[in-house]
Parts: sequence; C-alpha cells; structure tokens
Amino acid sequence: MATHDLPLTLQDWPYPRWIAHRGAGTLAPENTLAAFRLGHTHGYRMFECDVKLSSDGVPFLLHDDTLGRTCPDALGLQPIAGHNTWSDLAQQDAGSWHSTTYCGEPLPSLENISRFCIANGCCLNIEIKPTKGTGLQTGKVVAQHAARLWQKAPVTPLLSSFEVDALEGAMAHAPALPRALLLHTLWDGWLETALRLECIAIVCNYTLWNKESVSQAKAAGLRTLSYTVNDSASVEVLMDLKTDGIITDRVDLFNPHAI
Ligand code: G3P
Ligand code: MG
Repeated sequence: MATHDLPLTLQDWPYPRWIAHRGAGTLAPENTLAAFRLGHTHGYRMFECDVKLSSDGVPFLLHDDTLGRTCPDALGLQPIAGHNTWSDLAQQDAGSWHSTTYCGEPLPSLENISRFCIANGCCLNIEIKPTKGTGLQTGKVVAQHAARLWQKAPVTPLLSSFEVDALEGAMAHAPALPRALLLHTLWDGWLETALRLECIAIVCNYTLWNKESVSQAKAAGLRTLSYTVNDSASVEVLMDLKTDGIITDRVDLFNPHAI
C-alpha cells in the first residue's frame, strides 16, 4: 500500500527538520532544478517550493503572480504567469536574472521536481501559490498531480498554503495528502481553520512562535514549522521552543545534519 493511501498521523511525521526554501534560498535561482541540486549538495533532504498552474492546468514552480522578476526575458507572453500555456512557459529562462552561471535555466514543472526528489530520496513541501482568484482549482489540480506523481514514493509531499480555499480544494480531491496551514499572522480562528482543514501542521512566520502559540498548536495535535529563518539566534529560540521544522534560505550556513 502506498503511503498516501492512509492519512499521516502526528506520530508518523516523516519529514526532516531542515527545509531548503525555494530550493537553495538565494544562492541559485529560486524554484529551479539548479537550486534543488545546490541545496542537495549542501546536505538538504527536504525542499520547499511554490507551485501554481499554467492556463492549460500544468503545475509549475514560480513564486510571483507575474513573470517579470524571475523571467524578465519572457517577451510576448502574458505578464500574469498563470495566463500562459505550459508549452510557452517551459521555454522561459528562469536563471539569467540571478547570474550568468544560471543563464538558460528553465522553469520547472512539478513533474520535473518530483523526479529529482524521488530519485534522490528527498522530501518536498509544496506551497500551493495560486494565481489570484484560482485557489480552489489550483489546490485541487496540484493535489491530484502530487498524488499521482508520488504514488509509489515512500514519503508523500506536504501541501501547504496561505489560501484556505486552496487547502479546501486539496482536501476535497486528494484527502490523504498531508496538509499544513501557512500563517503570516495568527489571525482569528487560525487553529479552528487548521483543524477543519484536517491539517497536520502549521507553518508560521517564525516570529509568531512563542510558548503560548506553540503549546496551542501542539495541544491540538499539530506540528510546528517556521519560515524563513536565516539567523542562528532565531534558530536557537525555535529549538528551545521545541518546534518541528525550519525553512531556511541559508543552506550555506546551517548544516541540516548537525541539529
Ligand atoms: O512556504 C513558506 C514560505 O515560502 C512562505 O512565504 O512568500 O517565501 O512563499 P513565501
Ligand atoms: Mg513559498
């Protein structure tokens, strides 16, 4: 039986503590395979990435709604990334904005990334990052693809989102894939919402974790993860609070096997 046939429980938590943000933070172009390779050479065995849909429904990696920042040469395309077909997006250069070393690095599909992660024994946190107004559909389609792509993998990806409707779409169409609620702030009802969405974790802006919020989450049976933690003093606080996961850009600073 594949692991995703059964919902994960708290005891089953299979993910490493250290998670490389967007592949390798800022050391390589974010959300590209090159970044994943670099994060892997630094010892990271779990990655976070941002995933949205092309206009023809293909999940691909991109943080922003628009192409301008990380694909500045995308001339002739719609500025909103998700308004373009995958065949057009797949031809874009997502590396030259970063440095000449990565010139020509393509935008990856979720399928490309799944191959890398599964072949190299790495876990993935898929942040569902819908194009504005497409939360439910993006959650549904990304979750369906993730369930298919990781069907035979020993560990399924963790799906997270700031968008409640994206998590609702994921829950409705691939209920056994583990979910996490992402929080910029501890808005009213965050805990009830996470429980209604049958999440197994909260992924918080790290400054929001303190004794009270950690014990609230833990008492509700939720794991506690943080983004984006780039300094040692903050890591120490989060370790003292006994939180469970740290998403970092600084794959060059933190040894994921040391603590
Ligand atoms: O998933 C954690 C973190 O990536 C959320 O913020 O804006 O970097 O996607 P952002
Ligand atoms: Mg993200």
